[in-house]
Amino acid sequence: MANDFFEKVYHTTSQDAVETLYDDWAGTYDDDVTGNDYRTPGRVAEALAAHLPKRDMPILDFACGTGLSGAALAAVGFSVIDGCDLSEPMLETARARGIYRHLVKLEPDEAPNAAPGDYGAIAAIGALSPGAAPAYYLDILLARLAPGGLLALSYNDHTLAESAYTSRLERALETGTVAERFREHGDHLVKLGSKSTVYILEKQAG
Ligand SMILES: C[S@@+](CC[C@H](N)C(=O)[O-])C[C@H]1O[C@@H](n2cnc3c(N)ncnc32)[C@H](O)[C@@H]1O
Repeated sequence: MANDFFEKVYHTTSQDAVETLYDDWAGTYDDDVTGNDYRTPGRVAEALAAHLPKRDMPILDFACGTGLSGAALAAVGFSVIDGCDLSEPMLETARARGIYRHLVKLEPDEAPNAAPGDYGAIAAIGALSPGAAPAYYLDILLARLAPGGLLALSYNDHTLAESAYTSRLERALETGTVAERFREHGDHLVKLGSKSTVYILEKQAG
């Protein structure tokens, strides 16, 4: 059953179809990904903790899903975490964890309701990908950081293979919108042999 979702997810592109897929996957998502040794949330959380010493800075966990990403952020000490996601059933599981301050359901193509400076960091863990949020969300998230704010981002193998995602990131770096503070390629879903790159990007002034 898990394999059905893993086969489908990276070929699902429209936001309505992505929402339906995660609504259907919510009941088994945690078992399916943790059963495949899902390492990216822990890797992103550790990288963010190394670059953001103030653990009480509010963090937005964009596309938080069932809250595995928020749980990883809480495990390294972050204490004020908000989450948002497209899928209400995924959010229900996140809510039950009791680790988020606020959880918000977003509609397809809706931006998180945040002003620059509301969050010291935004985490986008498994969030920008074929089968998740479109590439242009990179700019949406960066626009919600004040200078000095951090984007803790992961791109999995499927995202890294799509120029729509990689070119957005290259442009943000080349134009000086962000400076790269950390980049590491490593394990994503170990038992599926997949990898991801974790980035810590710092929003620049101007
Ligand atoms: C691979 S899951 C990652 C969930 C969580 N961050 C984790 O690491 O387990 C991708 C999530 O992105 C959400 N998603 C997809 N498009 C979105 C959008 N436009 N806005 C918010 N969430 C979105 C899906 O509902 C799903 O929960």
